Amino acid sequence: MEMSLSGTTLALSPCTVISSEWIFMRRYSNKRILVTGGAGFLGSHLCERLLDEGNEVLCVDNFYTGRRTNITHLLKNPLFEVLRHDICFPLYVEVDEIYNLACPASPVYYQLDPVQTTKTSVHGAINMLGLAKRVKAKILQASTSEVYGDPEVHPQPETYRGNVNVTGIRACYDEGKRCAETLFFDYYRQYKLKIKVARIFNTYGPRMQPDDGRVVSNFVMQAIRGENLTVYGDGSQTRSFCYVDDMIGGLIRLMESSDDFTGPVNIGSPFKNSILEIAERVISITGTKSSISFALLPQDDPIQRQPDISIAKEMLGWSPTVMIEEGLMKTIHYFRELGPGVRGNNYNADCR
Ligand SMILES: NC(=O)c1ccc[n+]([C@@H]2O[C@H](COP(=O)([O-])OP(=O)(O)OC[C@H]3O[C@@H](n4cnc5c(N)ncnc54)[C@H](O)[C@@H]3O)[C@@H](O)[C@H]2O)c1
Repeated sequence: MEMSLSGTTLALSPCTVISSEWIFMRRYSNKRILVTGGAGFLGSHLCERLLDEGNEVLCVDNFYTGRRTNITHLLKNPLFEVLRHDICFPLYVEVDEIYNLACPASPVYYQLDPVQTTKTSVHGAINMLGLAKRVKAKILQASTSEVYGDPEVHPQPETYRGNVNVTGIRACYDEGKRCAETLFFDYYRQYKLKIKVARIFNTYGPRMQPDDGRVVSNFVMQAIRGENLTVYGDGSQTRSFCYVDDMIGGLIRLMESSDDFTGPVNIGSPFKNSILEIAERVISITGTKSSISFALLPQDDPIQRQPDISIAKEMLGWSPTVMIEEGLMKTIHYFRELGPGVRGNNYNADCR
């Protein structure tokens, strides 16, 4: 088989066709971007947006909580590549930018194997920072509002240092992410790396896992199945929910901000809703006959979470635009399409 690229004819075997197409498309792409955790909820939306903008995207994932179906529609794009890899091990690739999203975000999954969660946050950060240092790539860390623990300050500004229970069941995630932030700033100071740290607050939308224990997916699946919606505690605890499209826009703006802006920067919705209010909205939008049942609040569950997004507004010109009603409708539509019988990942110890 032969192929002509600007007058150059390449002899191709069937298995090199994709790679020639890739060479061709590279001319039209902007950057080579690595997204770790690219098959997950946020990662798959990020890969999609970066491809839409004409970039070449390498999605690296060990499929612990990520799913192939999240990225199947991207596989036909010659600028998209997937690599099954655990970021606890070093990776050698050539890229211009790295979005480090790999890490289970749902308490159900990050507590299932807490040692692996800490390893992913800490060893994973070291490996990705090492890669960024080698290839001189800009690197963004998906940190979390969990670095504030159960906060005593509301809303939380980036200067708040947090209230985390070091020995609690959530610490594998909270402390892992805190240590990752430390590493990012040490690489910045010691090696002059171009870093960006985003503190992501609760995000929801299509491609969340149906049974990963997060508030929105739990409520929607219970409503669709006609089960009662489980509210932990009395439901007066509040959360601020950001729709996924807004979140992805914020992460990309942060990556594209000037090199002297490192963050950490809160990215999330500043509008708070009580958990009970969210349950009631889900019941009303789905039209389910389900009602609400109450259960004991899990250990270290924060009572209130709400970002102060002044820095995101000022430095990135970013604030969320999708209202909770609209976001919930899109999310409910997605879960309805999946059907009531669908279960989420599926934890399988062999999948790593
Ligand atoms: N979704 C949120 O509300 C939220 C809030 C705060 C922070 N975050 C952060 O954003 C990132 C993405 O979150 P998400 O909601 O998409 O979670 P997710 O669980 O859907 O995605 C995480 C992805 O990382 C992959 N992964 C996990 N460990 C890995 C490893 N060792 N090597 C390679 N891949 C690995 C998983 O398979 C999955 O595809 C996470 O780092 C999370 O901590 C998310």
